[in-house]
Amino acid sequence: MGKIKRIGVLTSGGDAPGMNAAIRAVVRAAIFNGCEAYGIYGGYQGLIEGDIRRLESRDVGNIIQRGGTILKSARSQEFRTEEGRAKAAEQLKERGIYALVVIGGDGSFTGAKYFVQEHGIQVVGIPGTIDNDLYGTDSTIGYDTAVNTAVQAVDKIKDTASAHNRLFFIEVMGRDAGFIALRTAIATGAEAVLVPEIETDLTDLYHFIEQDYNPKDSSGIVIVAEGEKSGGAYSIAEKVAQVHPNYDIRVSVLGYIQRGGSPSQFDRVLASQLGVAAVDALLDDQNSVMVGIMNREIVHVPFNKTIKHTKDLNPELLSMVRILSV
Ligand code: F6P
Repeated sequence: MGKIKRIGVLTSGGDAPGMNAAIRAVVRAAIFNGCEAYGIYGGYQGLIEGDIRRLESRDVGNIIQRGGTILKSARSQEFRTEEGRAKAAEQLKERGIYALVVIGGDGSFTGAKYFVQEHGIQVVGIPGTIDNDLYGTDSTIGYDTAVNTAVQAVDKIKDTASAHNRLFFIEVMGRDAGFIALRTAIATGAEAVLVPEIETDLTDLYHFIEQDYNPKDSSGIVIVAEGEKSGGAYSIAEKVAQVHPNYDIRVSVLGYIQRGGSPSQFDRVLASQLGVAAVDALLDDQNSVMVGIMNREIVHVPFNKTIKHTKDLNPELLSMVRILSV
């Protein structure tokens, strides 16, 4: 057995399909490498409260296909404070755990970064969020599944939109990022996509809607990301209705169905690869880094870097929505 004897794992922030597959991979890779694995229940809040239990290989059996997270998740306010982080460190040290895997998004990694600096606990992060808004990895765990869910839902809405020659504004998740919206728009052949990263130009939008939608004989779909800056799907729909009172407009907010459900094979494999890579990174003395996959290669990205930089939407995909809606 090497220097690390015990490895803790927790999930933090918004849950994402595939988190269970990542937990399973961390626990089993830890055991494979001769370490004990500990599950921390309830994210950072559970860590502060000491809800920590030893996990054996069989404890993570039959979870690879399940959405949500068996470890539960939370957005802990207390962990944002120095006092909260000190309590959390105490809980780990009491149990002889000095290495931790955090599965979450950039908020979770910001907390982890301070935790490492203040308490000398070794932390490696795994990107888990449906939003895909983490710099340093091509895809985050849960993104592929969330897009598949959104695409299936939009396909269904398209049936009824077409039956009534209606124009639908469909809101998908993504508070700060338009990744789910953009991919869903391309995969469903939407007329337009509105994302937080780009200011909505209403004149432009009318133009693209007019090209494809005619209330007398066709339907239309506009995908709107939750964080779109001019107020989201309802607000945009109202503005369009004022200019075009003859349009038959409806709004549908897909909401939390995008966060749940069985993970896609892509997310299961990604989560498994990243879980094993996170344990390898800990055993390799890496600290304060997120493991990701870029161009099929495992990469280690310092928390500082992934927190500071934002991942850009692919401009080619953005222009493709326009090209394909002529
Ligand atoms: O996990 C990402 C996300 O689903 C965002 O798209 C959304 O804005 C946010 O989480 C909602 O978080 P909560 O469920 O904590 O309100």
